[in-house]
Amino acid sequence: KIIILDFGSQYTQLIARRVRELNVYCEIHPYNHIPVVDESVKGIIFSGSPASVRQTDAPQIDFNLFHKKYPLLGVCYGAQYLAYKSGGDVVPSTIREYGRAHLHYVNDNNPLLKNIGSNSQVWMSHGDTIAEIADDFEVIASTDTVRVAAYQIKGTQTFGIQFHPEVTHSTDGKQLLENFLVGICGCSQDWNPDSFIDSTIKELKEKLGDDKVVLGLSGGVDSSVAAVLLHKAIGKNLHCIFVDNGLLRKGEYEQVLDSYQHMGLNVRGINARELFVGQLTGIKDPEQKRKIIGAAFIEVFDNAAHEVQDVKWLGQGTIYPDVIESVSVNGPSATIKSHHNVGGLPDFMKLKVVEPLNTLFKDEVRRVGKALGLDQALLGRHPFPGPGLAIRIIGEITPERIAILQDADAIYINNLKSSGWYDKVWQAGAIFLPVQSVGVMGDERTYEHVICLRAVGSMDGMTADWSHLPYDLLGKISNEIINNVKGINRVVYDISSKPPATIEWE
Ligand code: XMP
Repeated sequence: KIIILDFGSQYTQLIARRVRELNVYCEIHPYNHIPVVDESVKGIIFSGSPASVRQTDAPQIDFNLFHKKYPLLGVCYGAQYLAYKSGGDVVPSTIREYGRAHLHYVNDNNPLLKNIGSNSQVWMSHGDTIAEIADDFEVIASTDTVRVAAYQIKGTQTFGIQFHPEVTHSTDGKQLLENFLVGICGCSQDWNPDSFIDSTIKELKEKLGDDKVVLGLSGGVDSSVAAVLLHKAIGKNLHCIFVDNGLLRKGEYEQVLDSYQHMGLNVRGINARELFVGQLTGIKDPEQKRKIIGAAFIEVFDNAAHEVQDVKWLGQGTIYPDVIESVSVNGPSATIKSHHNVGGLPDFMKLKVVEPLNTLFKDEVRRVGKALGLDQALLGRHPFPGPGLAIRIIGEITPERIAILQDADAIYINNLKSSGWYDKVWQAGAIFLPVQSVGVMGDERTYEHVICLRAVGSMDGMTADWSHLPYDLLGKISNEIINNVKGINRVVYDISSKPPATIEWE
């Protein structure tokens, strides 16, 4: 495997993704929590950082732990740090070193730069630049303005590059990473979904033995894939719980429960609609809704988990980005976020935690799910928020409003599917607006509510843009909703991007 030491760059996760795309397993660790480095480690990458090596509080590391012992690649800050600490000089750059640049000198005899075009485009993003290098450094690539675009410390396997190979704008970035991983570190590119499935099932069997595990299914991709892996490892000792909070899409609870049963999972469905909807009565504030739903879920899940005799483990569908986030925010020991509900932690949270997907990125979870034979309809599902339709009914929630929204949303989603648009948008859903407007149906005046349609394109939900659905399709959906959903006489389409809007309305 490859260890990526994170100095805080926004691109660190991207480096890991690129390495994984080359079918090499890697892990990100904070620079100040270096893991045990054993013979399974083939090489080390130092990430970039928002800091400058000249700051007194810049992240520090004893690079002699790795230099000359393992192949080492410093990227941006990582490269500047190695140069600076080896006796070179790093200064604020006086010329623009952001964005596109082209290599105009490339030493293509160097193993790091094999098969990289002499005019290759690279992506720069740094405020500092390496001005001087120590005598044992050799420049192996330059751009017009950056002499030390890449270097090697002579006679060693230590390299530095001031550009970012992990971003797609560096056209030969993937080739460079492959040169490092395969040519220099000697990694075999055998990390793939099947090898992951085999080794994970083996590890889970060893770790869990005859122990019982409880796991909450949500209908989403992560918890479903985690459940199938655990099921393959321990069979009926995996007890899944799927809670109907009454705030799911129309028919979703029944369909999803049915498909879980078809997969052979030992799953218990719990109808807790009245509990959830009852507790939400009269609540208008979005954060209040989230708190109530979170606490109600814990209550229902805890009761159900208690009914499984001698359970020792809590299974979770946590994926790698969640782990990295909680590590950098809370320090490496954080496991589950506590929900701070009165009366201390519920019993199930005192269980040991098993998270079979906690080394995977989202796209890898989908690949693993596919290799496990999960239904495409489940794998291709849009993200759906935990609080469900509660945060898509603006203001007060009533059973009537839930029913109206479910009907309108079902018409919307079915039309997206039949028109081929469902897979082209990242997330879509209908929103109930507690606004009444005047309309006319037949000869009657109406005074009814509004449904808003939302569809966005996104990579990760952090930023998003509204999807340009065809007018004809929007017209058809609007007609169907107004003609079939009693209580709605107007449909609007949300054309706001995130930022400044968010995807959900609440
Ligand atoms: P926003 O509205 O913040 O949403 O742009 C970004 C993504 O997060 C989802 N979302 C939630 N998911 N619990 C969840 O599990 C929540 O409280 C929640 N709020 C928003 C949203 O659906 C979108 O995918």
